[in-house]
Order: sequence, then C-alpha cells, then structure tokens
Amino acid sequence: MSQLSQRPDSPIVGEWHPHESAKAHVTGGAYYTDDLVHRFTGVLHAFPVQSTTAHAKLLDVDASGAFAVPGVVEVITAKDIPGVNDQGAKHDEPMLPVDEIMFYGQPIAWVLGESLEAAKAGAAAVAVEVEELESLVTIKDAIAAGSYHGIAPTIDKGDIDAAFADAAHVFEGEFEFGGQEHFYLETQASLAYVDEGGQIMIHASTQHPTETQDIVSHVLGIDANNITVQVIRMGGAFGGKEMQPHGYAAVAALGALKTGRPVRVRLDRTRDITMTGKRHGFNATWKIGFTAEGKILALDATLVADGGWSLDLSEPVLTRALCHIDNSYWIPNIRVHGRVAKCHKTSQTAFRGFGGPQGMLVMEDILGRVAPKMGLSPRELRAKNFYEEGQDTPYYQPVRHPDRIRAAWEQALQDADIARREAEIAEFNANNEHSKRALALTPVKFGISFNLTAFNQGGALVLVYKDGSVHVTHGGTEMGQGLHTKMMQVAATALGVQLSSVRIAPTRTDKVPNTSATAASSGSDLNGGAIKDACEQIQARLAQVAAGMLGVPAHEVRFSRGVVSGLGAGKTVSWEEVVRTAYFQRVQLSAAGFYRTEGLHWDLSTMTGSPFKYFAYGVAASEVEVSRFDGSYALRRVDIVHDVGDSLSPLIDLGQIEGGFVQGAGWMTLEDLRWDSSDRPTRGRLATQAASTYKIPSFSEMPEIFNVSLLEKAHEEGAVYGSKAVGEPPLMLAFSVREALRQAAASFGPAGHSVDLASPATPEAMFWAIEAARSAVVDHAQS
Ligand code: MTE
Ligand code: MOS
Repeated sequence: MSQLSQRPDSPIVGEWHPHESAKAHVTGGAYYTDDLVHRFTGVLHAFPVQSTTAHAKLLDVDASGAFAVPGVVEVITAKDIPGVNDQGAKHDEPMLPVDEIMFYGQPIAWVLGESLEAAKAGAAAVAVEVEELESLVTIKDAIAAGSYHGIAPTIDKGDIDAAFADAAHVFEGEFEFGGQEHFYLETQASLAYVDEGGQIMIHASTQHPTETQDIVSHVLGIDANNITVQVIRMGGAFGGKEMQPHGYAAVAALGALKTGRPVRVRLDRTRDITMTGKRHGFNATWKIGFTAEGKILALDATLVADGGWSLDLSEPVLTRALCHIDNSYWIPNIRVHGRVAKCHKTSQTAFRGFGGPQGMLVMEDILGRVAPKMGLSPRELRAKNFYEEGQDTPYYQPVRHPDRIRAAWEQALQDADIARREAEIAEFNANNEHSKRALALTPVKFGISFNLTAFNQGGALVLVYKDGSVHVTHGGTEMGQGLHTKMMQVAATALGVQLSSVRIAPTRTDKVPNTSATAASSGSDLNGGAIKDACEQIQARLAQVAAGMLGVPAHEVRFSRGVVSGLGAGKTVSWEEVVRTAYFQRVQLSAAGFYRTEGLHWDLSTMTGSPFKYFAYGVAASEVEVSRFDGSYALRRVDIVHDVGDSLSPLIDLGQIEGGFVQGAGWMTLEDLRWDSSDRPTRGRLATQAASTYKIPSFSEMPEIFNVSLLEKAHEEGAVYGSKAVGEPPLMLAFSVREALRQAAASFGPAGHSVDLASPATPEAMFWAIEAARSAVVDHAQS
C-alpha cells in the first residue's frame, strides 16, 4: 500500500456522494437530448410511416399525398440513402425497407415537417402498397419452421452421457419465458444539424456514441471525421440504447443533410415500444442429473433466444446466456446448445444483463422445480451446489473467490433472520387457508467484461487549466447509473484534488474516439482505468515541478485534496500554485489516458476461455404473501447482500442495487409483452404498446422492507481502486421473488408438489399455479 492511500484524508473514492446531477434531476434542471431543440430555429420534426403487416413484400411507397399536407417538407425513403442502407452491426438490418417488410410497426419512411403534427399528418398520407407473406410471430412458430439466424454455439465439457448413466435422479423439462421492454423514461431521441464547419453534429441519446458515428457514416457514405456525436446524459437506457439509437440518428443526420435544417427525431412512447428491440424471451429445454445427495452431475440444455427480425446483438446475448446457465453452481458435465430464432417481431437487443439473466433464470427455474421432487428444500439444494475454490466454469474459466458466494449467503441468512422467519412462515401457512407466505434465497454470479475481448478498452481526456480546475471527458455515457459521479471521484483521487475541482463534460466522439458502448457494467472499470492513467501522467509531471518548490525529490511529493506536500517536509503548497508554476515552466497540463483489460481471452468457436476479468456476486432473500382467490401477492421483505468490491461510491452502488433488483422484479412478475399471434389482420402487432397495457413496477410494488448491504472485505485485485462493476448483476437478485412465489404456490398443495410457474409470474399466472397445486397428487415415481 502506498503512503498516499494510508493517509486518512486522501482517497475520495469510497466516499458517499450523491449523483453529480441529483439536484438537476429532481428540479428539472437536467438537460436531455431533446431539450436542446428549443435552442435552434427552423427545426424539422420527423415522424415514421409504420408497417401494418408482420411480413410482406413491399411493392410501392407513394409519398405524393404527404407533400399535399401543409407543413410537410421532405419524405425520406430507402431511395434517399446515399451510402449503405443498413443500421445494424451485422449488415442484415436495412434502415428502411427496400422490398420486404419484416415486422408490424417497422418504419417504412420518415416524414419531415415544420411541426410534429404536420409530420404525423404527412405520414398518414403516405400510401404503402404491400403483398402479405406468411409470418412467424411466436418463438414456437420459428422453432417449428426451423427459422434461425446467426451462430449456433455449443458449450461442451465433461462426459454428459456417462454422468447421466451414473445419476441417481434425472429430470427433464421445458421453460419458455417472456422478454422485457426497456421503458427508459426518455424515449429514443436524436437531433442533427450541419454545423458552422460543415460537419454533421448529432446530439443523441446513445450508449454507444462511436457506433452511432460509424453507422451514420456508412449510411451517409462519408468518413467518420465528418460526424461528431455528443451525449449529455440519458434518461435511462438499460441496454436499449446500445444498438437501437443508430438508425434514428441516421434519419436525423440524413434529413439535416438533405434539407440543410436541424432535424429532430424523438419517438413518442408507442412509436418507441412498437419499433425498438427488447429483452429476448427464450425457450429452454433441459435435462439434469443429480447424485443421491442432490449434487448436480450433468446438464444438457438447449436455449433458443427469440431474436426478432434481424440479428442486432442477439449473438453476443446468446453467448452470454450460455456462459451464465451455471449461475453460482458447479456443473461438472455440461452441454448447452444455443440458437437465435428469427421471426417477424422487433429485433431484440441488449437489456441489463445481456443474456446472462436468461441463462441464470433457466437454472434457478430448474432448481426450484426439482427440489421438491428430491425431497429437498430449494434453499438446501442451492447451497449444496455452490462453486468451491479450484473449480471452473463450463467454459473452463477458473472461478475466482467462489467463497464470496457462500459468505454472502451466510450473511443474508443471518442479517435476514431466516431461520426464525421460516418458522414463522410455517406457522402462518398452517393457520391460513387462503393466503400463504414463502421466503426464497437465490445467489448471483455474473461475469464482468465484454465477451468479445477487443471491446474491453477505454479512453479519457483530462485537462488541467491554469487556475487548477480540472475538466474530464471519458468514453463512457451517463444514463442515470452514476458513472460520471464515480469518474469524478476517480479523477479527484488520482490527481489528489478536491472533488469540487473536477468537472465532467458531455461525452463526445471528437474528444475521446473509438470508444466501446457503455455496457456490460464495465463503464467504471474501463473509463476509470483510462482516467486514472491520464491523471497519473499529469501528476508525474507536476511532481517534478512541486519537488523544486518543496525541496524534496519528486518521488516524495504527495498530492491530497488540493494540498501538495513532501514526505517529512513541513512545508506545503497548494495544487493551484503548483499548476500555475508548471504552466510557466511550460509543462503540459493535459493528457489522454487509455486502459485495456489484461488477461482476457475467448474462443467463440469452442466457447472456451477466460472472457471475464472477475465475477460479481450477490444473494437476495425475498418473502412474499400470496392470495388464493386472485393470485395477487405482496413483496413483504427483501434482504440483499451484494459484492461490489471496494465500492467507488457506496450511495451510487446502493441505488444501482435497489434499481436493478426492482427492474428484475418487474420482469419476473409484471411485465408481459403480448404480440397478436392470431390470424386477424393485426397479426404480429404488439398489443402492449403503452403504460396502460404494459405494467412496470411503481411505488406500490416496492418491497415493504428493503435492506441492502455491501459484502465486506471484498477488495478486487486489478480492478480500479479494488472496485467491482454493479450496473447489471443486481437485476438477477430478483429471481428470489419468483422462487418465493413458486414456493408460496406450492404450499397450497401437498408436500413434494413441484410448481411450474409461467414467467412473468403475474397474478393470473399465480392463480393457475395455485389451482394446479391445490389439485395436485404427488407422484414420486417421476424421479
Ligand atoms: N442505471 C440507470 N439508472 N439507468 C440505466 O440505463 N443501465 C444499466 C446499468 N444501470 C442503467 C443503469 C445497464 S444495462 C448497464 S450495462 C450499466 O448500467 C452501464 O453502466 P456502467 O457500465 O457504468 O455500470
Ligand atoms: Mo447493458 S445491457 O450491457 O447496456
């Protein structure tokens, strides 16, 4: 440990600070992309013409009617695209259709108007001629038709045939579960104009400014150096702005180029829900074998992701699902196949956890279903199978610190007083015929880093001005997760200045180029590493200057909260004095920083390697009460113990854990995407396209008691200041809610009854699970 970090007054990382924009968020003072519109005159508003068939041949788009509408200025169709008509990463996603319509709601053309109303009326006046084709709407339709796209990865380890032959218990099953709408409060938004230098400037709500720049560049057929993308902040993204914003930014940019006027694209909620991709629902089939004691011996599974019409990020999502089916459990023999179903729906995409939740959900579902059949409590069955030191994952990566799974589990058992509450619950259930309670614990192990090694790099630009104030730009984007707050703490710590000296500027591709998406929870790791690098370069130069001022060797100079001192020397100088002196000595006061995560490797063809820098762990204990009459339930209490390493910013991390958990609970219990799979003319239409039909968690669904604590003594070697990523892993803690609901439904039936629960476990699904439990006859012959 360096002298610096032994000083109690030095680190700023680890302190509790509110989100840097907290006040602006709650007062309405925070600007989002679309708030900039009022600064420009002559802004054109864009509105899409959407398809009303799930799958069709596109015969003709006649825009002449739109031009008859007052205020309509321009109509953009595929013919207007000067470069490549593609908005995806896989070149299978035309920005506007040429001859084939692929989903109900797909944008076919964009109308630009002097007002939104004019654009909307213009869009209604565009005549689209199609010839309907057969469509695949459900994942089952696609599987039956053998309609898949992209890779077909397989994880294969050990000898599953031999292991099944040895198994004392073998079970098989199927599990199909729904996806999830991001429902970020700020919908997709872009504003583009040609600036004073002839460059295209795009303000966009995007997690991946560099890719927005790249895709606009190829759509327009011009080099990337003509395009700048800026992100102030997003009003939520959750993975839904990793790939999805690019096409809308391209529409705005193309419109600006054609008309010479600023063009604004901002989707209303229904446009956003019906056009953008969502979390993938999955179909899983599985067979699992256990020893007589309940240790997992073998797993054979097939995971099919419901990909929608184009690939988007479905391949890496599927890969991550396969890499997380083990969750926290040691599976010595395993084979998992994966496929992406191609069907006529929105193109499903990244969503908090990026496939990890889907893989882990399959495992938790299996354990929840089979435990009663082996006469074990689900809690015992889970704990029996945790990873131990020296074991490795199905893709052969050693599991570092597996003891933390058990440590978090034990701490949750204690803090949440589980033994006493289980006894109370048993008594409550014995005395209540119409409502039952249950409590479930589930663990989380989540791999941190992008599976694709190349993405694990970050950049930063740190400027120190003559007055000592510090201006930081980094490659990450702020979406509410508190990345900027953490990055300010990292910069202040690494430079040795006060937090108030540091300002973070909006993310821009002309400040920090070639960045990765702010995704995979790695924003702090990658950009924090890069900021630290830049700050250390500057500090090393300043140490030389300060050495002369203090009369000590440079390696004995210490910077702490704006005060610069020499070891053992009584004299100190201020940061500002050192900076001013350095300027007059012509010392460079700015630096570009860079970071890449070392030690990663991944072979997609064999699905083996060490794709993750480390694993984040957590445990949640959830208690529910369920009513027999209507399947309604309440979340009575939640206790979480989560591992964030040495937290960079505990208040931010607690917010991420609470928010992630609640978002996961929404997916598990409320959020139900329904597409019309009938043969009516509305076949393929998303029926749940507004808050009125798509229910996200609100205040009344919060747990009545909600305790979150951070796992202690969890320093992570090699990560920035010993911290761990926190953005996604807590979402999966919500599986404890679903497992508690399953156990509550089971307690309406005979002991040993195994409950198959639909997902989401809406009150309706719970009602049917309870009905099944009440009429169940337990037959142990099935095991
Ligand atoms: N938290 C808020 N408030 N809003 C968001 O959009 N996105 C999540 C998570 N937490 C999100 C969020 C997702 S999907 C990811 S990958 C991470 O934040 C990204 O940011 P990080 O890498 O800085 O954690
Ligand atoms: Mo998060 S799904 O990796 O944007």
